[in-house]
Amino acid sequence: MPKKPTIKTALPGPRAKKLIKLDKSFVSPSYTRVYPLVVDQAEGLWVHDVDGNTFLDFTAGIAVNATGHCHPHVVKAIQRQAEQLLHMSGTDFYYTPQIQLAEKMASIVPGNGPKRVYFGNSGAEAVEAAFKLARWHTKRELNIAFFGAFHGRTMGALSLTASKTVQKKHYNPLVPGITHIPYAYCYRCAYNLCYPDCDLFCVKWIEDTLFRTTVPPEEVAAIFIEPIQGEGGYIVPPPGFHKEMYRIAKKYGILYVADEVQSGMGRTGKMFAIEHFKAKADIMAVAKGIASGMPLGAMVAPAKIMNWEAGSHASTFGGNPLSCQAAMATIELLEKNLMKNATVQGKRLMKGLRELQKTYECMGDVRGKGLMVGVEFVKDRETKKPATKWRPAIIRKAFEKGLLILGCGENSIRFCPALTVSAKEIDLGLTIFEEAVREVAG
Ligand SMILES: Cc1ncc(COP(=O)(O)O)c(C=O)c1O
Repeated sequence: MPKKPTIKTALPGPRAKKLIKLDKSFVSPSYTRVYPLVVDQAEGLWVHDVDGNTFLDFTAGIAVNATGHCHPHVVKAIQRQAEQLLHMSGTDFYYTPQIQLAEKMASIVPGNGPKRVYFGNSGAEAVEAAFKLARWHTKRELNIAFFGAFHGRTMGALSLTASKTVQKKHYNPLVPGITHIPYAYCYRCAYNLCYPDCDLFCVKWIEDTLFRTTVPPEEVAAIFIEPIQGEGGYIVPPPGFHKEMYRIAKKYGILYVADEVQSGMGRTGKMFAIEHFKAKADIMAVAKGIASGMPLGAMVAPAKIMNWEAGSHASTFGGNPLSCQAAMATIELLEKNLMKNATVQGKRLMKGLRELQKTYECMGDVRGKGLMVGVEFVKDRETKKPATKWRPAIIRKAFEKGLLILGCGENSIRFCPALTVSAKEIDLGLTIFEEAVREVAG
């Protein structure tokens, strides 16, 4: 395994250049590549491009490769399954891996009593399923979601999303009846208050203002929430937030839907981020890290909530046998030691970033849980003016130095390496990141 990144060519290199040109001719221009990385192969935390350059990956394919690239235990599970059964459609027939994974998911998702699991192929499909189930179960038409939320790009999930207007432009009308409200983004409180003096005003406002003026609570099916906001900027709400939200939801018979697509599957050091808040959810949407890179989404709910009838929702590929085997191998590794490692290395990463924050004024806020860590860049700490130009410049500089990172929110950078990351790799990532920050904004 290489000890450090090696960049042998200008970036992009000659092979990458050719492929990018071809990509431009044939692939949808809607994709948002922020730097020209053309991947050839990868293992663990290390990614090799088509020109022989090697990068340290702190993106994990956007928080997907939970067990690192091509973990041998996961690869073997997929290979074994590939020789036995590729597809049969779990919506029309039965097969063992889907049943076994459903049993496992029901046991790891918090909450007592019998549960049921719906399988799709992506995060958006898991959210879409939760959206439909909430309507089906409650027979109510309204929903609440949050500014900054990203729930996916299918029309239902997109209607809940409130991340960037480019994601919604020209797609209206979307699903009606969704009200977006401010998230508990304490660094930039929508109400200009400070935790804990605010006494969770953002939650109280729902009952005191929203439910009294525009949204009749008895017509609300569900509140959709990311326990830690992901694409919106890796925003961690304060203690007590989810508990209080859940209490209000229950008071009015509203379902609390946790979108754990990015924050779930061990990334934060617990299987699901909601567990950090000692809070509950009625429905959970999971994807990304669940199968270490194989396409899979799951929506989990108590049996008494997932009481829809046969034919009311399904997907041909959902719960594909290969993805189910990859998920079971992934969960095994998470439970064995990777969640623990996420806690340990997450603390190391956070400590390192907080140390850098003392030197670099532009690092306005450092926040996160486990290996879901974000740094928000500001022009100065007094005004907190977003440093929107520095952010992409730092990401680009890090890429040129062999560190893969990505943005989130308007002016933040996310760190979401594989849960297999070592202390050495964390330190190396921090060193390269510091060089990039110093050269761009130091
Ligand atoms: C919280 C959350 N929900 C849903 C999605 C959509 O997932 P997918 O891109 O797999 O459809 C994402 C993707 O980033 C996400 O972060």
